[in-house]
Amino acid sequence: MRDFDEHNITRAVIDRFGETPDRRLKRIMTSLVSHLHGFIRDVEPSFSEWEAAIAFLTRTGQMCHDKRQEFILLSDTLGASMLVDAINHRLPAGATETTVLGPFFVQNAPAFENGADISAGLPGELLYVEALVKSADGTTLPGALAQVWQSDDEGFYDVQHPDAGTALRGQFRADGEGKIHFRTIQPAAYPIPYDGPVGDMLRATNRHPWRPAHVHFMISAPGFETLVTHVFAAGDEYLDSDAVFGVKNTLIREFTRHPPGQLPDGTAIATAWRHLTYDFGLKPLASQAA
Ligand code: BEZ
Ligand code: FE
Repeated sequence: MRDFDEHNITRAVIDRFGETPDRRLKRIMTSLVSHLHGFIRDVEPSFSEWEAAIAFLTRTGQMCHDKRQEFILLSDTLGASMLVDAINHRLPAGATETTVLGPFFVQNAPAFENGADISAGLPGELLYVEALVKSADGTTLPGALAQVWQSDDEGFYDVQHPDAGTALRGQFRADGEGKIHFRTIQPAAYPIPYDGPVGDMLRATNRHPWRPAHVHFMISAPGFETLVTHVFAAGDEYLDSDAVFGVKNTLIREFTRHPPGQLPDGTAIATAWRHLTYDFGLKPLASQAA
């Protein structure tokens, strides 16, 4: 077939994928072509606009290396990451809602005993975190693994400081009552990296790059889906305009400020401190569900 025009080209391209042996791939390519062509028909880009779009995607790829994933940032800022997350996490009652993983998770962070301090001496207001890990049906899950990571009080993760060591991240095992507890510092709101093409897109569209202050949790236990989520600080000015659309009401908690006195573990504290508590509910794997 030849003589393609704006009316028949979409059908022709879809037909060209007609012999794709993998049924799922065939469905994906068919949908991709029809939505891409629909987008082009809708927008009717000029040649210079199409060149700008290709240059943008080229710069997005060129910005990626082992410590920077600009395509994930693009997916996040277009709400695509949270849409994929929502479709893949239709949760039962009692299961904690999920949100984006983000680029600052590190495999094999140091393991700590409950009660440890993960701040590595960084300045900031002490935050005492107590969390309970349960199944969605309310049964506690002793031995569950909780990986936590967060920004410092200026909004930076340890991996954003080239020469700094590990800080404000670690792995904890839930105790016999399903509880984890540790000391850290109050995290700050921060801008997602905006010195690349995603930042250019945000500026050109009058969007800001900020995320509300939060602590990340990745919690796993045998027989359960791994939970990837954050707990956000109530009152943060960016809760309603998170640059990556990751905030859910059920994930917001008071990081309650207390005067000097005593921490929950009985230690005396001479400064004001904050307290965060959260009960996490894990979703049983499909193979384990009734
Ligand atoms: C984060 O919370 O670490 C994050 C998530 C998405 C994009 C950038 C950062
Ligand atoms: Fe974060």
